[in-house]
Amino acid sequence: MCGIIAYSGHQAATPIILDGLRRLAYRGYDSAGIAFTQRGEIHVIKTPGKLEALVDKVAASDNPMLATCGMGHTRWATHGVPNQVNAHPHLSSGGEFALVHNGIIENYREIKAELTAKGYTFLSETDTEVLLDLIAEYRKSSPDTLTAFQRAVLRADGAYALVLTSRDEPEAVYATRKNAPLVAGVGVGENFVSSDITAFLSHTRKVIFLDEGDIIRITPDTYQVFRVEDLAPATKAVQHIEWDIQSARKGGYKHFMLKEIFEQPLVLRSALAGRIAPDWSGVLLPEMNEREILRRPGRVRIVACGTSYNAGLWASSLIETWGGVPCSVEIASEFRYRKPLLERDELVILISQSGETADTLAALKVARECDCSSLGLCNVVGSSLAREADTIIYTQAGPEISVASTKALCSQMALLTLLAMYWGERRGRFAAGELKTLLAEFAALPDYLEKQLPQMLEEAKGFAVRTASFHNVFFLGRGRNCALAMEGALKLKELSYIHAEAYAAGEMKHGPIALINPDFLTIALIPHDGHYAKAYSNIQEVAARSGPIMAITEKSDDPSVTLDWAEMYWHIPAANDPFTSFLLLPMLQLLSYEAATYLGKDVDQPRNLAKSVTVE
Ligand code: AGP
Repeated sequence: MCGIIAYSGHQAATPIILDGLRRLAYRGYDSAGIAFTQRGEIHVIKTPGKLEALVDKVAASDNPMLATCGMGHTRWATHGVPNQVNAHPHLSSGGEFALVHNGIIENYREIKAELTAKGYTFLSETDTEVLLDLIAEYRKSSPDTLTAFQRAVLRADGAYALVLTSRDEPEAVYATRKNAPLVAGVGVGENFVSSDITAFLSHTRKVIFLDEGDIIRITPDTYQVFRVEDLAPATKAVQHIEWDIQSARKGGYKHFMLKEIFEQPLVLRSALAGRIAPDWSGVLLPEMNEREILRRPGRVRIVACGTSYNAGLWASSLIETWGGVPCSVEIASEFRYRKPLLERDELVILISQSGETADTLAALKVARECDCSSLGLCNVVGSSLAREADTIIYTQAGPEISVASTKALCSQMALLTLLAMYWGERRGRFAAGELKTLLAEFAALPDYLEKQLPQMLEEAKGFAVRTASFHNVFFLGRGRNCALAMEGALKLKELSYIHAEAYAAGEMKHGPIALINPDFLTIALIPHDGHYAKAYSNIQEVAARSGPIMAITEKSDDPSVTLDWAEMYWHIPAANDPFTSFLLLPMLQLLSYEAATYLGKDVDQPRNLAKSVTVE
């Protein structure tokens, strides 16, 4: 996510804004900028790269210390490379307004076409610049800037936080949010707006948490909040924040990992934003328009490491059943040395959160040597994978700070699901109306997951304490649940250091069952999907040998479904396959998180782990 800080007060604005940007730098960024108004003009200074370059540019500019109002932005590029032109703030064509933005305006292409027809031209590739000129256009027929801002925001679809300054109101800052964080800080003779409390916590602990659809206008001595739908004034509570800086960076969560697990609804929204046709008729992946092999691959081979490999395992059956494309999944460190036989009509998909994993990049090189097309699925704009793959699709999960990957996997699964739908649509794999129903269900998932997470966390605590009492754990599942079992075992290993193995449930009778004893816990991922009956009988093999079982399954009204064969039952919130996986995944993440916390482990920096394994 990008970082935003705005100030209006009695002090010089630029030092406060630059300091705020420094406090936001932990979120990760690839360009930064600042805008301030003085002598009747809005001055915008921005640069790709790090904050130091921005500080130098500001220092060299004309009297940056005169302004007492302005805003700053650190950009984590989701689309549009990190360069000078795409960096924020953006200045409207006529210089009337400056805007910074966090998130995605889904319908910016439609708005851009309208403005282009009115003679507007655009310097950048960003959706931000389009919205900015829409505000300027509306200002011509509005009584004030607030109304112009409101009209533009009501037009904008997507998830975003916006902060606007106006040349004609040198002491005012306007801001609003929709499915993206934004808070206001209330000082004495000064006020703040930011995407993150940490940016102004050293100046004031009095905070207003803005709600969806709030528009706030701040000046040095006032703040007013309005509802976007009708500009009716809104009364907001001013809260006193006790957090220290580090806690504030974690948004009040104890660890970055917990924050990132709880960001998964937002991650899903970002992954789906602009990628589902407004009438639910299909999947929009403009990145795939480049070449025929992307639209109709003869077969797909997914290559990755660790959690990203588990994403591929999870999606492979969907790519075959929904997409109609043969799909295999390989570990990059094996693939790179085995001289694979790749066909010309084969699309090699490389999945990597960091885009810097050595084995995955080496696999890309092998694909290229075999003259095969490559598609990268990556979370970091400008990373090696993003630059070297033939085509890249960004997962837009925002910076993942905790070393163990959580929200990135959620975004990878979401994108792979969209890819399976995209290919299936082009191969006529869906019955009439079926895809529309699936897309509507997918689009409703983020809100549903958001409601379930707090209870999942509460429930996880008890199961985690029981799990932490074992030294050996099996994770068992069939089909997609086997891939989730792999991820569940990986999370438990890397966070709590408990030995955990994942197996296809049907494999138990081929040897591993020799290990079953009262000291060996089996965690059975057994939702009521097409695999339930077979998985149930596999788990009975464990029960018959007195192996303790934790069953992760759904509640059922079916009288034949008994609950007398496991020690513990953890119920998955109701959903349809494959969307159940997006509920089961955070349960596994929270189980390992709570077990590691209970055992006193370093959750965000587990021993021996690196966030990006850039060596073989
Ligand atoms: C994630 O929890 C693991 N720490 C690790 O397996 C990671 O997924 C793997 O190293 C791949 O990283 P990447 O997605 O950045 O390529």
